Amino acid sequence: MSLDAVLSKIDTDLPAATDRLMALLRIPSISTDPAYKADCDRAADWLVADLNSLGIKTEKRATPGHPMVVGHLDGPGPHLLFYGHYDVQPVDPLELWDNDPFDPRIEETPKGEVIRGRGSSDDKGQLMTFIEACRAWKAVHGTLPCKLTFFLEGEEESGSPSLVPFMKENAEELTSDLALICDTGLFESKTPAIVTMLRGLLGEELTITGPRIDLHSGMYGGVAINPVRVLSRIIAALHDDQGRITVPGFYDGVPELPDEIEAQWQGLAFDHSAFLGDVGLSHPAGEQDRTPLEMIWSRPTCEVNGIWGGYTGDGFKTVLPSEAHAKISFRLVGTQDPLKIRESFRAMVREMLPEDCEVSFQSHGAGAASVTETSDPSFEAARQALSDEWQVPAAYVGCGGSIPIAGHFQNILGTTPMLIGFGKDDDALHSPNEKYDMESFHKGIRSWARVLAALT
Ligand code: BES
Ligand code: ZN
Repeated sequence: MSLDAVLSKIDTDLPAATDRLMALLRIPSISTDPAYKADCDRAADWLVADLNSLGIKTEKRATPGHPMVVGHLDGPGPHLLFYGHYDVQPVDPLELWDNDPFDPRIEETPKGEVIRGRGSSDDKGQLMTFIEACRAWKAVHGTLPCKLTFFLEGEEESGSPSLVPFMKENAEELTSDLALICDTGLFESKTPAIVTMLRGLLGEELTITGPRIDLHSGMYGGVAINPVRVLSRIIAALHDDQGRITVPGFYDGVPELPDEIEAQWQGLAFDHSAFLGDVGLSHPAGEQDRTPLEMIWSRPTCEVNGIWGGYTGDGFKTVLPSEAHAKISFRLVGTQDPLKIRESFRAMVREMLPEDCEVSFQSHGAGAASVTETSDPSFEAARQALSDEWQVPAAYVGCGGSIPIAGHFQNILGTTPMLIGFGKDDDALHSPNEKYDMESFHKGIRSWARVLAALT
């Protein structure tokens, strides 16, 4: 059968596919840091060349930020769009990496072979699973099974600032029957999954200013206001003792889980002890009246991502800082309105400011949550294809992370997103020593070939 031939081709081509992924991983396309602008451009060029080599007419398209990569191949219906992102997270703290993050290697580990390097899992390895499936299909059949659009972004890890304008300007070109997104994971590292709920994200940076300059804490300590103390008090006030977030109106639009989803999730028998144990923890620390799966998939959060001010270098300095800073993010669910929450959060901070302090805010994006309707028969077809490859029934799951484009496909283009990915919980996304299992890469490519066959 034709699918079998494609699957065999994928198996024999795995070493070459791995080499291609390694070449892409060597390009340090860190989107949030302007120092890597040329590298983001190079990663886009690499993908343009690779897709063109498959006969997919592909161009790098300029945006005010990093370029988009857009490719088209005409063919019979349905029209499928594939989305992935070629940008990666910063690598700090660099000293915690065992090797250069951009000198990827194949490593044998007790759990099997892994590809180690920044972006191996998020999202270059995942993005290449789809491209490699297409390459094998083309090699076997001389053509691809349907009309395809490739839409690869270089700003996903920095809040996708150019995405909405680009999608609006090119709406007709980017509209398809179904948008396939490869940027999520397996359930508990072993069960294939289609993600149907993603949390939204609101990013806020604040700077609290007190004295005009850093001061001697012996000379001024006690009489001068200390912005780090002010910031600490504000941050401490963002949650109550039960783990609920205290920003006024924050829970407006947070739905209770529908019975059907609750039953589905109960059937998954999530092992939260193993999930937390893997990162050295034991106790679920969110809203105390919620289950751990709810905490990560269907409840909103407020987290401090970074805090600094005063002297943090080696040794000790008796300084009373002039400024204190924090980066705070909120994960959002249901119909929580990111802009309303931003205003309410800022008002709460201003309200808590004592005399002589000022605050300024910088926004790092505001995106709502998204939920995908799975009644279209293509979902059941894809779920069956995944189950066939992994030999375990594929699950519909939530995802605590945010992938802004999923909601934009629905709201701007009216296209349903289908989120399928092969990352594992221990991939160390955004962390030192990120990896992608060879199993994820290999079976991920095979999965896409099966999904393509099932959808066309
Ligand atoms: N691939 C992740 C989303 C993800 C996280 C999937 C965890 C599965 C498990 C994505 O690239 C990501 O990290 N997104 C950012 C978005 C943000 C910067 C707007 C996130 O969720 O923090
Ligand atoms: Zn990602």
